Parts: sequence; structure tokens; C-alpha cells
Amino acid sequence: MTRLAAQADLEYFPTQERIRPIIRSYLSFPESGTTAFDPCCGPGDALQEICPDQYLFGMELHTGRALEAKSKTFVKVLAGPFENCTVSNRAFGFIHLNPPYDWVAGGGERYEEQFLYRATNYLAPRGVLEFLVPTTLFEYQGEPVLKFLLENYRDIKIFKYPEPEFQQFQQVVVFGVKKPQERVTASPKWFAEQIARITMGDIPELELQNEPLYQVPAINPGLVKVFRVNHYDKELAESESQTLSILQTQSKPVLKDNLTAPYLLDKALLALLAVGGYVDGIMPKHYLLGKYENHEETTHEIDVDSGEEVTITRKKSTTVFYALTPQPGPDGSRIAVIR
Ligand SMILES: C[S@@+](CC[C@H](N)C(=O)[O-])C[C@H]1O[C@@H](n2cnc3c(N)ncnc32)[C@H](O)[C@@H]1O
Repeated sequence: MTRLAAQADLEYFPTQERIRPIIRSYLSFPESGTTAFDPCCGPGDALQEICPDQYLFGMELHTGRALEAKSKTFVKVLAGPFENCTVSNRAFGFIHLNPPYDWVAGGGERYEEQFLYRATNYLAPRGVLEFLVPTTLFEYQGEPVLKFLLENYRDIKIFKYPEPEFQQFQQVVVFGVKKPQERVTASPKWFAEQIARITMGDIPELELQNEPLYQVPAINPGLVKVFRVNHYDKELAESESQTLSILQTQSKPVLKDNLTAPYLLDKALLALLAVGGYVDGIMPKHYLLGKYENHEETTHEIDVDSGEEVTITRKKSTTVFYALTPQPGPDGSRIAVIR
């Protein structure tokens, strides 16, 4: 495929169907499940197949593919550029990273590098990274990429695709376990030798494992506190929004045709509406109910002067919202309770 054709399809080079179960065989997942993330998930099938029965999170720039992924068993899929996301650090036990293969506009850095550096923030300590890239990445940016991997990961192994795929696609799979960052220094000669081994294909081949090599840790199953992207996708919003027609009936005639479809609201947006006082039925399908709950909390503390135990009773108020969510939560309910 020419570079222009690849760019037109946003660098969509899906993880090949024959390769997915081989990658899967290198991994063992905890019984309680873990959070798994694909920052550019395409239609979602690669992550789903590599991590069956895990809590899947995805991001994808191409609207059609994002919508397809949303129809799969993901906890959440965001449509938008990975570069514009806000995600809790150290939130995932596993990351499958098969990024766009191209230079970032203006040159200087590759998307593969940018995605690797950013994704590493979102991987938990001892979390497992699987990074799938073409050998050309190492030709262009071998030293900074290898150095970053060595500084942030232990138990790094790099495998070339089996044949005939290696001949055809020239891709390699890097596995690593996230460690606390440390400085790594090596001579340019040492880096050049390692890079040459990768680009010449002088490395072990990816092959089906009888016993997994990497134990993925259980991380906050199902729970990622912040998972947002700062990007408005008109097509996606129109397909998801259930409030555009309501807004149109309530708006002034002159605005009617210029309204944009709002997304289904997430917790942060709900909180903003609540602060603005728009609670209870103003936005059907979003809000069910908001109320205050008052209760008393009793604690026993030691008075530092007298050494005597004192009982302190404090009044506490909590604002509680019950909201309808687009997808059922872990308990199967579509009513989210937000305190
Ligand atoms: C190499 S494909 C990998 C697809 C999938 N992860 C897999 O392994 O089969 C790269 C994907 O990244 C998407 N993409 C390109 N630029 C992106 C960006 N800035 N943010 C998020 N996704 C992006 C493309 O639309 C494409 O689906």
C-alpha cells in the first residue's frame, strides 16, 4: 500500500487473524479479570480476541470503526485521537498497541513512538505491554525507542512474525512488563547492533506457546476513573444522541437547524449540569433523579491534651444522582448511582 493510501485509511493495518491467537498464547490473565486497553482499537476485534473475558477499553479515530468496536464487548470506546485523551495514569493491566505507522506531521517523530510514550503512562506497574510495529520503526527511530523500552520495561522480548507473514508485512511484536523508570546508558555501537538484529530479522520468531510467558496483573477490574477524549465527532454524536429532537422542540426556530447532537453524558458532564441546576427530567434519557441524603457520622478520637477518648458526631450531606447509562454496568444495571 502506498503511504498516501495508508494515510487515507488512517493507517489501518489490523493485527492479522492468524497472529492474534499466537499473541494470546504468550499471556495469562488473572481469574478476577483485568483492565485491557487498545489506544487505536480499529473495529475492536483484535483486543477482544487477545484478551477474552477482560474489561476492554478502546479509542479509535475512524468513526465507522469506533462504532463497530462500540457494538462489541467493550466497557467503553471513545471516538477521537489518542493524542487528545485524558485517561487515569496506571489504570490498565494490559495494553495492546498496534499504532498508526507514519511520521507525525512535520517529521521528527513517528506515531509509533508518540503512542508508546503516551500509552506507557496508562499502564499499571507490572502491567504488560504488547507493542506491534514494523521493523522500519527501528530503522528510523531505533535508538530512542529501544532506550525508552529499556528504561520503562523489564523482561523485554522482541519476536518477528512467523513466515509467510514476516516476508509480507515485516512486523515484530515487543512484550515487556512495566517497571519504575530508570536511566539506561549504552554505547551507540551497542544500540546499532541491537537495531541491526531487529531490522535484519535476526531475532526469535513469534510462535504458539504451550505455557504463557507473561502474567497480566489484576488491575481495578472494570474501573477506570477517568477515560475521556477532547473531540467532538458529529456522526457518532448523531448516532448516539437521544436528545437532539428534544432540544429542537425546545429551541428557538432560528436555532433549530443549527443544533449539534450532544453525546450521552458521562459523570463529569452530569456533574456540570447538576451544578447548573438542570436536574430531574430536563434531559430525558440522562437524568432520572437527584436528591440530598443527610446522615450522621460518629468517630472516636483521642484528645491530644487530656489523652481521653472523645466521641465526635458530624453531620454529612451527600448529593446523589441516579442516571441512565448507555451500557449496563458490571451489575447488569443501566442505572448509575453517582454520589
Ligand atoms: C495499525 S491499525 C491497528 C488496529 C487495531 N488496534 C488492531 O490491532 O487490529 C491503527 C488504527 O489506528 C487508528 N488511528 C489512526 N490515528 C489515530 C489516532 N490519532 N488516535 C486513535 N486512533 C488512530 C486507525 O484508524 C487504525 O484503526
